[in-house]
Amino acid sequence: MTELKVSVLVDSDWASGSLVDDVRRGLGSHPRRLPPKWLYDDEGSRLFDEITRLPEYYPTEAERAILQAHAADIVTASGASTVVELGSGTSDKTRTLLDAFAAAGRLRRFVPVDVSEQTLRDAADMLHRRYPGLAVEALVGDFTLHLGHLPPNEPDGRRMVAFLGGTIGNLYVEERAAFLGALADSLDPGDSLLLGTDLVKPVDRLVAAYHDSQGVTAQFVRNCLAVLNRELDADFDLDAFSYVPFWDGHMERMDLRLRAESPQRVTIPGAGLDLDLHVGEELRVEISTKFRPDGIRAELAAAGFETVELFTDPAGDFGLTLARLA
Ligand code: AVJ
Repeated sequence: MTELKVSVLVDSDWASGSLVDDVRRGLGSHPRRLPPKWLYDDEGSRLFDEITRLPEYYPTEAERAILQAHAADIVTASGASTVVELGSGTSDKTRTLLDAFAAAGRLRRFVPVDVSEQTLRDAADMLHRRYPGLAVEALVGDFTLHLGHLPPNEPDGRRMVAFLGGTIGNLYVEERAAFLGALADSLDPGDSLLLGTDLVKPVDRLVAAYHDSQGVTAQFVRNCLAVLNRELDADFDLDAFSYVPFWDGHMERMDLRLRAESPQRVTIPGAGLDLDLHVGEELRVEISTKFRPDGIRAELAAAGFETVELFTDPAGDFGLTLARLA
């Protein structure tokens, strides 16, 4: 019988507290920015799902191909009996990974971590049917804040933390260092990390992946203004903003912004903030950093992780690194 335990580490009110702080700090200062986590309300999650099926958006398929080709190697090299997945969602990537652990008779415990309780409950239902006997200990929480709550190792057990999709690329370099450091602190030597990273590649493909011909990404990015309108009673006029994604070659990241096409006065009562935006003023909504193998290895090493192997897809578009805490 599958055992399910759900621990809730966040306020059940989706956008409480931290949204207000993020908006005050981010939109109230220059350059104006908003943390990307506010892109993922129900509508944003639906739009992101649509993005993963766009012909231009290669990372999802590339990562899936790597997992399919190398899941068995990952099981053996990690030696893990507990799999933790940060930002797990309900993805079939999770299934590919868990199938390989289950096939090796290795899988004892799965710990999905996600901010959405409903997403976790849906995932748990699926896992329940597919892996009888698996202990599921779901954590409703934010992977940047709640790493200290991961369940401890079983005696003689090892944990592997999967952080897939290239989401680490949405963090700034100092945030990545803080995140990897906090993760290392919450793990034991011998535990491992499976980290998905998008790789540097020719600019035209990168720009196409974030500026798709159907306009889904533009809708996804603009949706954060709808979130502020709904959650904080703001009065953003979504049509007054154009979507401007560009490649920052110096920082090697995509920079996704919204630009005011006419002067805008915006009131955000829920945050006690009024904005006067001039024509052309931009709000940065997300960065998506692209990596090189040496850089990945170095950032991991700085946090105490030794790279065991970097797997890539045949085209070399995406990287999946297995690293072990020394
Ligand atoms: C899944 C969060 C990594 O950065 O590629 C896709 C998000 N934003 N298109 C990415 C995203 C615009 C995506 N992450």
